[in-house]
Amino acid sequence: MHGLTSVGFIGTGALTAAIVRGIRSRSDAPTIHLSPRSEPVSAALARELPNVVREASNADVVANSTIVILGVRPQQVAAALQGLPFRRDHAVVSFAATLRCSELSRLVAPATRVCRATPMATTASGRGPVVVWPALPEAVALFEGIADLVVAETEAQMAAFGCASGLVATFFEIEHSVCMWLVQAGIPPDAASLYVRSMFAAAAHSGLEHRSAPLAELAAAHQTPGGLNERARRLLLEAGWFDRIGGALQDLSSLRLGD
Ligand SMILES: NC(=O)c1ccc[n+]([C@@H]2O[C@H](COP(=O)([O-])OP(=O)(O)OC[C@H]3O[C@@H](n4cnc5c(N)ncnc54)[C@H](OP(=O)(O)O)[C@@H]3O)[C@@H](O)[C@H]2O)c1
Repeated sequence: MHGLTSVGFIGTGALTAAIVRGIRSRSDAPTIHLSPRSEPVSAALARELPNVVREASNADVVANSTIVILGVRPQQVAAALQGLPFRRDHAVVSFAATLRCSELSRLVAPATRVCRATPMATTASGRGPVVVWPALPEAVALFEGIADLVVAETEAQMAAFGCASGLVATFFEIEHSVCMWLVQAGIPPDAASLYVRSMFAAAAHSGLEHRSAPLAELAAAHQTPGGLNERARRLLLEAGWFDRIGGALQDLSSLRLGD
């Protein structure tokens, strides 16, 4: 794994816990060093997983790691990095959504090799994307095999991917709407809920299996001429429903977070 023997995390919250579990699922997993806050999370990870060490301080994490990952919230970054013993040879990866690489470099000097990464909590079970920019070899090696690795070409692209990540709640709202309609049609809630989750999960899985096929082609391939899927899709297209998704993304991009 690109010579990675030790990976440290500053900030052991929800996302770090998921990534640590994902990394530990690899057969060639490195030793992992955790910062001591949040105590219940870091202590549980160190207790449950082999070669995961809960360090006494953030400084110990940095001193004992070759790659350091920042898992704190954007507004916590500066305080968490204050006075830490970064070296020139460190690779530093930040999960903080709005922190630009130029600012990150300033905070971790004399380390200069930095990148941003946006994983999802589902990385714990080997599902979902991780976007990185720039393609720092250590970060690429770390996330390859535990997630669908996507390398952004610019920091602006990184921000655009961040906007797209803002549609996960909308996805669940769509599932909820379908489920509620089924319940109103008299179907028991448990059956409606399982049906909807399983149907959309199967469709999503099929999309990954056929990843070289354009998504518009997959939409066409999943409708029979004159059938239910064609009719529903046409009604929604005519209503401008899909344009609203682009509009919502445009609104998120106007917030200009971290590009
Ligand atoms: N959650 C996601 O799905 C997701 C997805 C993409 C990106 N992100 C990004 O990932 C980062 C972490 O998100 P999260 O959801 O894991 O947040 P979180 O659960 O709030 O975790 C933040 C962690 O940082 C710790 N912390 C705060 N100040 C610290 C300091 N000075 N030194 C050491 N540790 C400190 C907190 O400890 P205490 O509990 O003791 O305060 C907590 O363990 C954020 O920047 C977020 O933008 C998250």
